[in-house]
Amino acid sequence: MIEFWKIRKESSNSYIAHSQKKNNYYFLNFTGYLIITLFHEGKTGEEIAIYLSNKYNLTNEVAYNYVKKFINDFRSSSYKAFPNELNTPLRVGWNITEACNLRCKHCYRSCKKALTNELSLDDAIQLCNKFIKWKVFEVELTGGEPLVHPDFFNIAKTLLEAGMTIDIFTNGLLLNEKKIESLLINKKGYMRFQVSLDGNKEDHEYLRGKNTFNPVINSIKTLKSYGIHTTVNHVLTRRSIKHLDSFIDIVRHLGVPFTIGMVLPMGRARKNMIVSVDSFKRAISDLFQNAKEKGFVVAGFDSSEKDIGTSVKFVVDNSGESYAIKDEWTCSATSTKIVVDSDGTVRICPFVEGNILGNVTKDSINKIWHNPKRKIFKKDYSKHDGHLCKPIQEKLSTTLSS
Ligand SMILES: C[S@@+](CC[C@H](N)C(=O)[O-])C[C@H]1O[C@@H](n2cnc3c(N)ncnc32)[C@H](O)[C@@H]1O
Ligand code: SF4
Repeated sequence: MIEFWKIRKESSNSYIAHSQKKNNYYFLNFTGYLIITLFHEGKTGEEIAIYLSNKYNLTNEVAYNYVKKFINDFRSSSYKAFPNELNTPLRVGWNITEACNLRCKHCYRSCKKALTNELSLDDAIQLCNKFIKWKVFEVELTGGEPLVHPDFFNIAKTLLEAGMTIDIFTNGLLLNEKKIESLLINKKGYMRFQVSLDGNKEDHEYLRGKNTFNPVINSIKTLKSYGIHTTVNHVLTRRSIKHLDSFIDIVRHLGVPFTIGMVLPMGRARKNMIVSVDSFKRAISDLFQNAKEKGFVVAGFDSSEKDIGTSVKFVVDNSGESYAIKDEWTCSATSTKIVVDSDGTVRICPFVEGNILGNVTKDSINKIWHNPKRKIFKKDYSKHDGHLCKPIQEKLSTTLSS
């Protein structure tokens, strides 16, 4: 049975399916769409083969082999690059507020207080309805701290009710069982959490403030106890890079997938906390080596330094082993995603200044998504060396050489 997937029509013979649980996308033709839809309706492989053999005048055996191969490919394949320009984005990163209960030393948005012109509840709910109309599959709720937003639960529930996947990016301090349960009441959508954990206790609290470590660990354990897909994001600084082993022990113990990313020189992040591209790549490569020595599995990733971008994802499996995920990297900013700020401004990339595509309160999705600036960005701006895009590379080298 294929679970947790959504599907949308792109053109007369092309469909996009999103597997919510695996977070993979697939491009399908009409026959693929039929197979997935029939599976979703509860039909068996044999029943689908009979349906296809009648429809296309095939023998049952040919149809059955086709269905079997299709399902195997569907299950085993990972992210597929999209050959065409999409009608609308697949994913929206929504900074629902600039307000935050912390003042992290590295925060690239310098988050503190809500903007005076943030979207009202009515506007925010209207925006949720727009995402639904645009057939967006995934919405990241981030900020600032999304749980500080007075209408966070209304927003999250509206999206879940529409069957969407939501990713909640949080510092983990405002979560409790009651709040989590209120979100779990909804069975239609799919909810994931990304919780920030910036190293061991000392390193995490150096960036995020005193008494922030234990509550985050507890929140991660609570989310896991509810069976919620939870990952950890660790922004590597010059300080925490020295203690990567102790961070790995913590996440292995928690049994959560994790991402290790570079500090980007924006907002409150200071030059003295930024790790150079070379040091970052070396630390990740060393991690692979140590992982092997410690008996971890480093699977599906050849640890070629070219493949290491601004962040690398790792998973820890049930046996406590961890390994890096090889993704067929492509810059989502140029192909599948937009970023919406708390006042409705739409941008291409959260880490590159300017690049405004419009405002969701005034402009149509057509005007926003097909804004020529996006194509220019795609063609010129995001040229990359391996997984590192040009604007980020330039920003890092300017900061480090200043
Ligand atoms: C801006 S925060 C918003 C969500 C939430 N407040 C949190 O801290 O997780 C989203 C993620 O961006 C990361 N981040 C903040 N500043 C950064 C920077 N200068 N470079 C890279 N990542 C950064 C945070 O550590 C966090 O994991
Ligand atoms: S990183 Fe997250 S928790 Fe820290 S100040 Fe920024 S928005 Fe707040």
